[in-house]
Amino acid sequence: MWRACASKRAFRIGVLCAILTPVAKVMAKRLKHTQNDPNKEHVTINSRLCADLPTHGISAPSTCNLTAQHHLSRIPLHHDGGSGVLNSSSRGKRMSCEVSTVLVLERGGSPYRKPGKTDKGNFLLTLLDPSPDSYAEVFVTEDGVYNHRARVLGGGSVAGFYLYAETEFVKVSGLDEALVNDSYRWVEKKVVFEAPVLQWQSAVRDGLLEAGVLPFNGITYDNVNGTKIGSTIFDEDDHRHSAADLLEYADPKNIKVYLHATVHKIIATTETVGSRPKVEGVIYKDALGVRHTAFLTKDPKSGIIVTAGAIGSSQLLMLSGIGPAQHLKELGIKVVMDQPMVGQDMADNTLNGLFIPSPTPVELSLISAVGIYLPSNYILPGSGLNLAPSFGWISEFFLRVINKTDIGSFFDKRLNGGIIVQKVARPLSKGNIELRSTDPNDTPKVTFNYFKEPEDLKPCVQGMQTVINVVNSKAFSKFRYQTISTQQLLNLVAALPLNQRPRNANTTKSLEQFCNDTVMTFWHHYGGCQVGKVVDQDYKVLGLDGLRVIDASTFNFTPGTNPQATIMMLGR
Ligand SMILES: *[C@@H]1O[C@H](CO)[C@@H](O)[C@H](O)[C@H]1NC(C)=O
Ligand SMILES: *[C@@H]1O[C@H](CO)[C@@H](O)[C@H](O)[C@H]1NC(C)=O
Ligand SMILES: *[C@@H]1O[C@H](CO)[C@@H](O)[C@H](O)[C@H]1NC(C)=O
Ligand SMILES: *[C@@H]1O[C@H](CO)[C@@H](O)[C@H](O)[C@H]1NC(C)=O
Ligand SMILES: *[C@@H]1O[C@H](CO)[C@@H](O)[C@H](O)[C@H]1NC(C)=O
Ligand SMILES: *[C@@H]1O[C@H](CO)[C@@H](O)[C@H](O)[C@H]1NC(C)=O
Ligand SMILES: *[C@@H]1O[C@H](CO)[C@@H](O)[C@H](O)[C@H]1NC(C)=O
Repeated sequence: MWRACASKRAFRIGVLCAILTPVAKVMAKRLKHTQNDPNKEHVTINSRLCADLPTHGISAPSTCNLTAQHHLSRIPLHHDGGSGVLNSSSRGKRMSCEVSTVLVLERGGSPYRKPGKTDKGNFLLTLLDPSPDSYAEVFVTEDGVYNHRARVLGGGSVAGFYLYAETEFVKVSGLDEALVNDSYRWVEKKVVFEAPVLQWQSAVRDGLLEAGVLPFNGITYDNVNGTKIGSTIFDEDDHRHSAADLLEYADPKNIKVYLHATVHKIIATTETVGSRPKVEGVIYKDALGVRHTAFLTKDPKSGIIVTAGAIGSSQLLMLSGIGPAQHLKELGIKVVMDQPMVGQDMADNTLNGLFIPSPTPVELSLISAVGIYLPSNYILPGSGLNLAPSFGWISEFFLRVINKTDIGSFFDKRLNGGIIVQKVARPLSKGNIELRSTDPNDTPKVTFNYFKEPEDLKPCVQGMQTVINVVNSKAFSKFRYQTISTQQLLNLVAALPLNQRPRNANTTKSLEQFCNDTVMTFWHHYGGCQVGKVVDQDYKVLGLDGLRVIDASTFNFTPGTNPQATIMMLGR
């Protein structure tokens, strides 16, 4: 599917791809036909990113220079006078467009502006940042669970954790295995590092083995049963690398990256009543609210790739008139194509786990050791993370729940202890997305129906039992207070306001109730534009020409410990 953009012919004639978030920017590589010095590319790309900032009302870092500015001045911005409606005069204008490249439209900002923000220790802070330019926009699902969606160039890879895994996805998705392997290697070269295993992580690793999560598979990218050491997107200095770094592969001459550019609508037209709709371009607004229209070139290979994430992609299709007709009509959206499956069969992977204060110092770590029970259960540990100052109250709360006056400095600036969480993948419970309004900045109504199917509680209970067994293991004994029982640790979590669901109890009566009451998200939601329902095997939207969706919204399940590897591979 990427060959359309890969060929020299496509390069010559020109392709415009409007893209929202991380993955598809890797397309830039496909347009590249000379091998440049990678270091030089890096400088140029970063200059380009800062060059884009001033046009959108964002002050540029001092490193931006005139060369970069000059480069920017040559980027054509197409303005349609505000109507967004194609008429003969705007059609004429479109034919004279000089677009000859990939256009990336990202509603958020640059992940390079505040480098410390994405360092390993600040993982929780970045996630909890409520400011309007936070990389992780918080929302609450209709189920009462706090959730986030990324709002930054590089998407979820800027705000999440990361591990590599996939073999199983290839088989079920019918992709070319050799091409998949090549694409994984292409991603790994830029963003993947070996995960360090210091004291706390090795205690968890050994605890997992004691708890029977066997065999030990050593260091591997593969998603296999047992305990393993994964790979990470944090380098040796704990700095994060993200999908945005894949832009280093791009030839800046062939790609434009517009930040703070929110797509409002994909323009799709039909030649005659009832004929197959064809995508013509996109309408987007910049940071100042100025409206722009970008049109595709006449080349039949030109196209738009939507990669706005599991929530944003369904939302954008619906805003563009592609979705359940009745729902669109209710909101006054003109129906381009009645597609009842857009926004349906959404699901999320649940997160439940324990906080474990430690009497001995712990290292800063984020998921090096991993426990895997295929197909549905993953155990993932982290320690020593920074906490927001506002989290000081938890300290008091914690002491009250465990009826102690002192447990050292568990909630100091850094968590002196760890969290061991487990995810349930492949839930049977499904939900959907509905628009709240026609404003693309309005997060839609998202329902996942967590644990609605009681069957989904089984893997969660099994996962929690494994977490408890790890905490109780001999290997882990150094990193827990023997005076605080696992029941007390469970009660602490049961009492924390981790979601907005009605509680069935304030303490932990059973692991079933614990799972249901303390459910959080792993941020691995998927569905809404699934293969076979909304898109075909080549990720082209069914019933329409010129439009693809490439992100987790196309998944029938989220593959592996973390879907980022697969999403970036798919983007490649
Ligand atoms: C200015 O930007 C260009 C690329 O756009 C880069 O090659 C050059 O090194 C930059 N100069 C400075 C002083 O940063
Ligand atoms: C046609 O489009 C042009 C430019 O996009 C706009 O100025 C003009 O008002 C439009 N005409 C009609 C009849 O909508
Ligand atoms: C792809 O990679 C997997 C796992 O690393 C390997 O088992 C398989 O043989 C590779 N397939 C091809 C076609 O290279
Ligand atoms: C993984 O282990 C679980 C539990 O031991 C077992 O039920 C499952 O079949 C195994 N899966 C694979 C793919 O080996
Ligand atoms: C808290 O601990 C104190 C002393 O260890 C004990 O007397 C008291 O009953 C405990 N309170 C609760 C609510 O368990
Ligand atoms: C889970 O909690 C919800 C909300 O309190 C409740 O409606 C539901 O019945 C519970 N499910 C199970 C399986 O206990
Ligand atoms: C939990 O505790 C609060 C306050 O202590 C109380 O009002 C509430 O009824 C309790 N809920 C349950 C389910 O026991």
